[in-house]
Amino acid sequence: MRSIKDIEVSGKKVLVRVDVNVPMDDFQNITDDTRIREVLPTLRYVLDHDGILIICAHMDRPKGKVDPKYSLAPVAKRLGRYLKLDVKVAPDCIGPEVKQMVDDLKTREVLLLENLRFHKGEQENDDEFAKELASLCDVYVNDAFAVCHREHASVSAITRHVQERVAGFLLLNELKYFHEAMENPRRPLVAIIGGAKVSGKLQALKNMLGRVNKFIIGGAMANTFLKSKGYNLGKSKVEDDLVAEAGNIMKAAIKGGIKFYLPVDAVVAPEIDPKAEFKIVPIQEIPDDWMALDIGPASSRLFEEVLYDARTIIWNGPMGIFEIDAFSRGTVSMVHNVANSYALTIVGGGDTDVAIHSTGQSDRFTYISTGGGAFLNLMEGKPLPGVVALGGPDLE
Ligand code: 3PG
Repeated sequence: MRSIKDIEVSGKKVLVRVDVNVPMDDFQNITDDTRIREVLPTLRYVLDHDGILIICAHMDRPKGKVDPKYSLAPVAKRLGRYLKLDVKVAPDCIGPEVKQMVDDLKTREVLLLENLRFHKGEQENDDEFAKELASLCDVYVNDAFAVCHREHASVSAITRHVQERVAGFLLLNELKYFHEAMENPRRPLVAIIGGAKVSGKLQALKNMLGRVNKFIIGGAMANTFLKSKGYNLGKSKVEDDLVAEAGNIMKAAIKGGIKFYLPVDAVVAPEIDPKAEFKIVPIQEIPDDWMALDIGPASSRLFEEVLYDARTIIWNGPMGIFEIDAFSRGTVSMVHNVANSYALTIVGGGDTDVAIHSTGQSDRFTYISTGGGAFLNLMEGKPLPGVVALGGPDLE
């Protein structure tokens, strides 16, 4: 896969696909701009090398209809502040007016195209839409790792219509760190898997079976594994249809010499409510009308010991409902345990990055992925359509 450094951008119209699908509050204030900051090196490279910069991106899921709520205008403002340039927003991402705006751009000028998903063609990977988008540029750069698991026009079909197609620095970094952790890792390699559902992580768990030395399971998905061991979990969320499957994964892991760790205690409450009464109990003593909403302190201590000799850690998914204070401590402890380890630490997916950023520990991790679904796809061993389209490695 070629990188942006392998081609000439000077005087060229360079279309960079980024993923700046950032969280916003009700007033369209950006609440976490990590994804914007992470694409700055590629954008600055184009500008510093006298390219004409056109940026395209999506915001949320407007389902092919124009909705001002999902405009990229707030992103343009933030980008402008970081790039110290006036970042204009086009009224659309294709069409004659946009084409004219692009043609009027001079070297070192920037235009951000409006939300790609205002057109159905984007998510349908429509060839005509992709062709129109491609007609805006001489060079196409994909730096949108977080959406590379989608077969969408701006990451997939577009590559059929551009001569020069290359990867940006963020995409290259994401793939580099993931492969470093998974292929030929320094061992022991520990996978920490949390989050709400086993169903969403089943494939990732299976793919990791042949690779890791230890599994640590947390979050509500641990309940399904605990149930397979015969524990009574009260009102806790359990995926009953997957109890047997969870048990099989655990058995296969143990048979393959993998150490498999589950929580030994839990923070329980009668309901998911910030004001709910809560207490810490051993897993064996979850009351019938209560539910496990976080791992307890004994589990955190156990997991700290498990991570002590780790040389590589890959972490996906929180240990509890960390958005609620009372049930956030398991995830916060895990952030510190992983940060304190001597391992190469790669984190991605779900809300794990949000948890780390909120504790101010980001700098103590080797790599925090910007991808949710895309990172999970890599863990599942699936090829990413966006990477395949660039001529990158097929991971299967
Ligand atoms: C993400 O936030 O994970 C990416 O931007 C992809 O968004 P999507 O799940 O709406 O395709």
